Amino acid sequence: LTKEDKKIISNSIRDIKDFPKEGIVFKDITTLLNNKEAYQTLMNHLEERYNSYNLDYVAGIDSRGFIFGAALADRLKVGFVPVRKKGKLPSTTVCEKYELEYGFDEVEIHLDAFPKAKARVLLIDDLIATGGTANAAAKLIKHVNADLVEVCFLLNLTFLDGAKKVREHAPVYSILDI
Ligand code: PRP
Ligand code: ADE
Repeated sequence: LTKEDKKIISNSIRDIKDFPKEGIVFKDITTLLNNKEAYQTLMNHLEERYNSYNLDYVAGIDSRGFIFGAALADRLKVGFVPVRKKGKLPSTTVCEKYELEYGFDEVEIHLDAFPKAKARVLLIDDLIATGGTANAAAKLIKHVNADLVEVCFLLNLTFLDGAKKVREHAPVYSILDI
C-alpha cells in the first residue's frame, strides 16, 4: 500500500462527533463505500495481501464486516461466513457475550459454519475499538475448530489497545492506526 493509497483511504473516512453518544468520535465508513476510488484501492490492497494466504473462508463481523468480508471472499474465490449479532442465525449456533465501547452485545456463529476440516479462516471487520467484538468472534471461530489465520481491520483505534486481546488468538493486521 503506497502512502498515496493510504491517504485516499483515510481521507474518505469521516469523523462524526458524539455518535451514538456523547464523547464517542464515530468513524463513518459510508463515505469510503460511496467513493469508488477509495473502495477499490482498499479492496485491491486486501486482495493482494490475502491472495497468498491460501484461505478457505473469510469470516465477517455483523454488520460492517460483512461489506468488506463478502467483497474480499468474492475476490479470493473463497466462501464467506457471517459472525452475527445474537438471534439472527437460524440453525444451531455457539454464542459469546462481550463489552463494547458503548454497551454490551453477543455474537454467534453456526456450529457448521466451516464445512471444510481445519479450515483456514481470515476474520475481518471495519474497526477495532476495545477489541470486545473481535475477541468474541475469534473465540467462536476457534470453538468450531477452524484455523484462524489472521484478524484484519481497516481501522485500529490504538488508544484503546483492543488488538492486545485479539493477538492472543491470531496475528492482527490493521490498515490505518489512529
Ligand atoms: C462496531 C464495529 C466493530 C465494533 C468494534 O460495530 O463495526 O464491529 O463496533 O468495537 P469493539 O472493538 O469495542 O468491540 P457495532 O457493534 O457498532 O455494530 P454495526 O457494525 O452493526 O454498526
Ligand atoms: N465501533 C466502536 N467504536 C467505534 C467508533 N469510534 N467508530 C465507529 N465504530 C465504532
